[in-house]
Amino acid sequence: MGEKITLHDLQSRKERGEKITMLTAYDYPTALLLDQAGMDIILVGDSLGMVVYGFDSTLPVTLDMMVMHTQAVRRGVKRAFLIGDMPFMSYQISIEEARRNAARLLAEGGADAVKVEGGRHMAPTVQALVEIGIAVQGHIGLTPQSISALGGFKTQGKSVEAACQLLDDARALESAGAFSIVLEAIPARLAGLISQSISIPTIGIGAGAGCDGQVLVTHDLLGLFDRFTPKFVRRYAEIGKTMQAAFEAYRDDVQSGSFPDEKCSFTMPEAVWEALEAALRSDDARHVR
Ligand code: KIV
Repeated sequence: MGEKITLHDLQSRKERGEKITMLTAYDYPTALLLDQAGMDIILVGDSLGMVVYGFDSTLPVTLDMMVMHTQAVRRGVKRAFLIGDMPFMSYQISIEEARRNAARLLAEGGADAVKVEGGRHMAPTVQALVEIGIAVQGHIGLTPQSISALGGFKTQGKSVEAACQLLDDARALESAGAFSIVLEAIPARLAGLISQSISIPTIGIGAGAGCDGQVLVTHDLLGLFDRFTPKFVRRYAEIGKTMQAAFEAYRDDVQSGSFPDEKCSFTMPEAVWEALEAALRSDDARHVR
């Protein structure tokens, strides 16, 4: 296992044209495996609201939930750069609240940085966090916390106006001091253009190969989310099916009596067993008298 990944390493990756790898984790065992697999960035995404808690959107996720999950992930991460997602309404109300809440993700959760959704309008908040020493990753394009306003999980930046707006958003976040920007669900050519137009790394999700790195929701990649699989996901495993088969096999074994067998049971020395039987016999005899 190499040295801990720093902001400097991420920036150098962009400058050297080396792709940055990022995935989400919400618990200790997944974090451990991602870290051992050599992931550059691990994101405790508010996507946990959907893929772990089963909500219809990320909006019900609270800061307390994010702090708890970030703590669990932190225990499994030694090398990767760890980002905690700021949940809905934890940074939009005021700069003061944004600072207090971001600080909790770092101080209590153990994150190395935070992520916030939004473009130019979020630049003053990003700047205010950076000013007090909190590293911030931006997130533009399809921003799930604004899903109602965006009219659903739709590709963004498809008109000239919308594309120019995204380019402007990316530049504003860069000027505000963000160290990186997630580009979600935007046309590949536009994401490539944005990536070339700014000096900080872009991390794409549904944004094509021209980004400086890629991120996916781990449950999507593993086949562990039942509701839908976005077009941009590549499935690397069918863990959901594997788990289902294991649960059914366990159910069958319990019902048939083949589990637990001797290998899965504890033994008692014969002498202890015989002494126990004798004790019970004399106890019975006393009751009869
Ligand atoms: O919450 C999340 O998992 C995210 C990623 C999709 C980038 O924001």
